[in-house]
Amino acid sequence: MKYYPVYLLLAGIVCTTITACTDKTNKATTIKSGTVWHDTGGTPINAHGGGIMHHDGVYYWYGEYKGDSTYWNPNVPHWECYRTEAGGISCYSSKDLCNWTFEGIVLEPEMTDTTSDLHYSHVLERPKVIYNDKTGQFVMWLHVDSDDYSKAAAGVAVCDKPDGKFTYLGSMRPNGQMSRDMTLFKDDDGKAYHIYSSEQNATLHISLLSDDYLHPTGHYTRNFINRHREAPAIFKHDQKYYMITSGCSGWNPNQAEYAIADSVLGIWTVKGNPCIGENSGQTFLAQSTFVLPVHGDKGSTYIAMFDRWNKTDLIDSRYVWLPIIFKGESMEIHWLPEWDVNAIK
Ligand code: GAL
Repeated sequence: MKYYPVYLLLAGIVCTTITACTDKTNKATTIKSGTVWHDTGGTPINAHGGGIMHHDGVYYWYGEYKGDSTYWNPNVPHWECYRTEAGGISCYSSKDLCNWTFEGIVLEPEMTDTTSDLHYSHVLERPKVIYNDKTGQFVMWLHVDSDDYSKAAAGVAVCDKPDGKFTYLGSMRPNGQMSRDMTLFKDDDGKAYHIYSSEQNATLHISLLSDDYLHPTGHYTRNFINRHREAPAIFKHDQKYYMITSGCSGWNPNQAEYAIADSVLGIWTVKGNPCIGENSGQTFLAQSTFVLPVHGDKGSTYIAMFDRWNKTDLIDSRYVWLPIIFKGESMEIHWLPEWDVNAIK
């Protein structure tokens, strides 16, 4: 995005959408945040708290497949623990980021064994998948929890295809530490990191993974100490690392914050709220989940992905995807109700 002045970019994105909501094949080309998004079969997309992996020219979107009824967990009287049955992890594929085909549930929920992490009565959130070039495996990490969120652990699953059935390997508290909201980051040198809210969500840990991406190495840093940051989304741009996080207010939106570092493990410098426009003080009524690098003929650009949670009907939570704009080292995310994804590719 660094190649274009901000005003030109925004004008381009918005103007294109006035005339071109679909292309010649009648496929969608625009992203309309906050509306119901349907897959190519016409069913609403059910992939919350997710992330996207680009592999062999295809984008794979993995997310929480939420059950269709939401209830207040009676085991948790002291905070708004709205939840649904965990339906496993879904996968959708697309070549254009607008038209998504449902590939199925790639990590199945367990229907009978109540002791399994994957039992539908438990919590399965924020899945992320990265490809390991050395082992040829697709590796998924996700937040697994008990129905009252006291387990605070991370689960790992693997598959030899991006859209095949993942095999669950089990869960752990990484480095012996609590782990809830999480993401993964694979750096250019092939090293991968697990980034998770720890210490009762007070401090964010960044943990170097083993070469096969299946285990923590024991080498980790404590970041944003006692600042209660959640929903981490991390990316690299011009040799700097960027991270967007939310505050800690359950399903309710709060103000986003971004930070910059010279190394994934830190030190991270907090820069402030990147959001601009309607509801920017509450992250456009949403919460960060992932930043997708898009490599096109306009250079590297990035889409910030957020979830607009509907806490009393969680399956109807919506997606908010917006382009990131750089001004020097600073980043901005402007509210756009509809924009043409081809304008940034
Ligand atoms: C949020 C978190 C979500 C979910 C929710 C439960 O803070 O980001 O992923 O865990 O709490 O209330």
